[in-house]
Amino acid sequence: MPNYYALIPAAGYGARMGNQLPKQYLTLAGHPMIYHATRTFCESPQIKRVFIVLSPQDPEWKKYDWDVFSDKLSVFYCGGETRAESVFNGLNTAAGHFAIESSDWILVHDAARPLLTQHQLSQLIDELADDAIGGLLAVPVADTLKRSGADARILQTESREHLWQAQTPQMFRYAMLLEALNNVPELSITDDASAIEAMGHHPRLVHNKSDNFKITYPQDLALAELIMQQRNQQ
Ligand code: CTP
Ligand code: MG
Repeated sequence: MPNYYALIPAAGYGARMGNQLPKQYLTLAGHPMIYHATRTFCESPQIKRVFIVLSPQDPEWKKYDWDVFSDKLSVFYCGGETRAESVFNGLNTAAGHFAIESSDWILVHDAARPLLTQHQLSQLIDELADDAIGGLLAVPVADTLKRSGADARILQTESREHLWQAQTPQMFRYAMLLEALNNVPELSITDDASAIEAMGHHPRLVHNKSDNFKITYPQDLALAELIMQQRNQQ
């Protein structure tokens, strides 16, 4: 049976957040944002080990006490210029420390998606366990879509049929993901599935709820705080 590993890229600067502190360290429900996704993976009985990929210059991680997760957590200071590069470096570094098999599953998850639930995680794993390629959590597009010119005037309305918003985790076999990322010319893609698609494969979309959104702008953090508060009251 293949093992399941989580890899959390957290080497970005959060430019769109407009904050001095990289967004993965902004406080959410009393913890740095990255704590929440780390906890969800560490507490999942299906996940064997969790790899965190930080920037080589990261000064923040060590300011916190991570002992509670120490039996499952490995931290690598090997982040790159882009998310894809961070994931690629993380996969290589992880294989230098652990006996990862080519057919083991890697679940790549943004540090900036703190609201992933245990239920959503196990649904992804269970739905893709027998899949030849793998896939990701995603949400069918709800809003009407407009295509514009550079002047922000509508050129046309796009059909939203069969359009999805990609989330993470994105789950692929170790060897296939490594090869896919190795083949992407600029490593400028913004998710892992794009690399797999570039090899001609068709990853599965696993229907999820929109609450697993990515914290990108300041208002996203405020909404995440509210959702966490509400969950903690249930
Ligand atoms: N990431 C990474 N290495 C990079 C860039 C991004 O590990 N060179 C990580 C981020 O830390 C984040 C995830 O990839 O957890 C998703 O990326 P994104 O939301 O775009 O985060 P940032 O790149 O930090 O934000 P921005 O694009 O606004 O600068
Ligand atoms: Mg980015």
